[in-house]
Amino acid sequence: MHIRILGSGAGGGFPQWNCACPNCEAVRAGNAGFRRRTQSSLAVSRNGEDWVLLNASPDLREQIAAAPALNPNRAKGMRHSPIHAAVLTNGDVDHITGLIHLREVQPFTVFATGRVQHVLATNSVFNILAKDVVPRRTLPLDAPVALTGPDGELGLTVTAFPVPGKIALYLEDASKGAGLGTEVGDTIGLEIRDPATGAAFFYIPGCARLDDPLRARLHGARLVFFDGTLFTDDEMIRLGLMQKTGDRMGHISISGPNGSIAAFEPLGVTRKVYIHINNSNPVLDENSPERKTAETAGWEIGYDGMEVRL
Ligand code: MLT
Ligand code: MN
Ligand code: ZN
Repeated sequence: MHIRILGSGAGGGFPQWNCACPNCEAVRAGNAGFRRRTQSSLAVSRNGEDWVLLNASPDLREQIAAAPALNPNRAKGMRHSPIHAAVLTNGDVDHITGLIHLREVQPFTVFATGRVQHVLATNSVFNILAKDVVPRRTLPLDAPVALTGPDGELGLTVTAFPVPGKIALYLEDASKGAGLGTEVGDTIGLEIRDPATGAAFFYIPGCARLDDPLRARLHGARLVFFDGTLFTDDEMIRLGLMQKTGDRMGHISISGPNGSIAAFEPLGVTRKVYIHINNSNPVLDENSPERKTAETAGWEIGYDGMEVRL
């Protein structure tokens, strides 16, 4: 299995267009130890030729241009794409708007839960992906599904599972209480598996906390790409960026007694990679003590273009 991080940043990317935080200023200035990051997405392929996107970010056009394997193969036609399917983990802007880049009557399949399919179905701009060209498949929860594209099966299965999280920002409904209208299926994690080899990994770009079912699922995993949005729950408040905690945004923090470093400690995961890293996160500074803390705890800080073979 071939895996490529297309975008390792959270919504907004790094630098974010309207952000003057120290990290964004440093990366804009080209300071040593800082790397630009596009918004949250991975690509996976069993054979290195036929690819599946895991989320479709607003930076997808640039991400495709930067990845030779995702470019058209003229031997297969004057209009061609190695992208055969896209799987969405929620309805957030950073995970769905890249679909709009994939117009031009190019066939592929969109997989998402019923909740997220409803978001696409009720936003008419997505009709640019005509349903007879780009079929939409509803993912069940907790059951493996064969990933398929226009030419049939891609040799991989996806298992979608609910994780603690929050409905997309633009759908929050304060009248619905503390959950803001969040329902099961609004935020999922994915297990991608090659049934021929048994190789498998987890992709969880948004997660509010590790509950017991999630701990059990991840126990002993070979590879997990996980929500690295914030280092500390109140970091955006302290930087004067926004009045929201990570908890309020549906994102676990890296540090602290309830953070992801502590939560993964007993799970025995072989390889742990942070993705969906917000521009405020101090781990984005390769020379920071927080970066050292994460790496010492056995975490890798994902970056755009990072490739893994399983
Ligand atoms: C998130 O990950 O919390 C969202 O991408 C935030 C947003 O939509 O801006
Ligand atoms: Mn996001
Ligand atoms: Zn910033």
